[in-house]
Amino acid sequence: MKVIKCKDYTEMSKKAAGLFAAQITMKPDCVLGLATGSTPIGTYKRLIELYQAGDLDFSRVKTVNLDEYVGLDGSSDQSYRYFMNENLFNHVNINKNDTHVPNGKAADLAAEGENYEALIRSLGGIDMQLLGIGNNGHIGFNEPNEFFDKTTHEVQLTESTITANARFFASMDEVPKTAISMGIGTIMQAKKIILVANGSSKAETIYNTVYGPITPQVPASALQLHPDVTIIVDEEAYAAIAEKCGK
Ligand code: F6R
Repeated sequence: MKVIKCKDYTEMSKKAAGLFAAQITMKPDCVLGLATGSTPIGTYKRLIELYQAGDLDFSRVKTVNLDEYVGLDGSSDQSYRYFMNENLFNHVNINKNDTHVPNGKAADLAAEGENYEALIRSLGGIDMQLLGIGNNGHIGFNEPNEFFDKTTHEVQLTESTITANARFFASMDEVPKTAISMGIGTIMQAKKIILVANGSSKAETIYNTVYGPITPQVPASALQLHPDVTIIVDEEAYAAIAEKCGK
């Protein structure tokens, strides 16, 4: 695992965008795994700037998102499909038919999970996966658990995640209680993984991800077993590593 410490959110976002830009330049028809939430917004903004400056071409890029709330369709402004359109896809020359988000309205979520796995396989796998991380160590919506979930599946969101995500909804009651998410196994099959985190609320979980035991209680700790992971954090998210490791 490589850990890159940045001075702030802007630098973190630029560094992450730089790696994705390099991926697109090296392989214009690459498959990107994408994340939602607050953390990657700056990365997407920077990618849009690079596109607008004529430095990036998304016309052959394909994307698969990590997750979606169950019960929301793409027209709902809290859905992750809507988020991706608003924060990236509407602003670059990507073909929307090549952008994929799990279907949170699928009648049969188990079948949707299997179809999503088949879709990723049919695209040839994920070249570069972007991840945020929950305060509790979740990646995608793989919450702390007794075991690592392997493939795309329905998940029950924990109280901690529901509380953290309530900021995007009018009230706590409106936050969906379930989601459909790539599994840890799906994520681990990506060829390269970039995880971004900022702010002091992520410091402890970043320390546990990098230096803690590999345990499904900290789902991101599985990344220690992946051969090509880069963690890009601001100073606040790095603070527990700095304190406990003296660096
Ligand atoms: C989003 C996702 C989640 C978020 C995580 C952090 O697609 O899969 O794992 O990355 O909840 O969210 P923020 O960035 O809002 O702190």
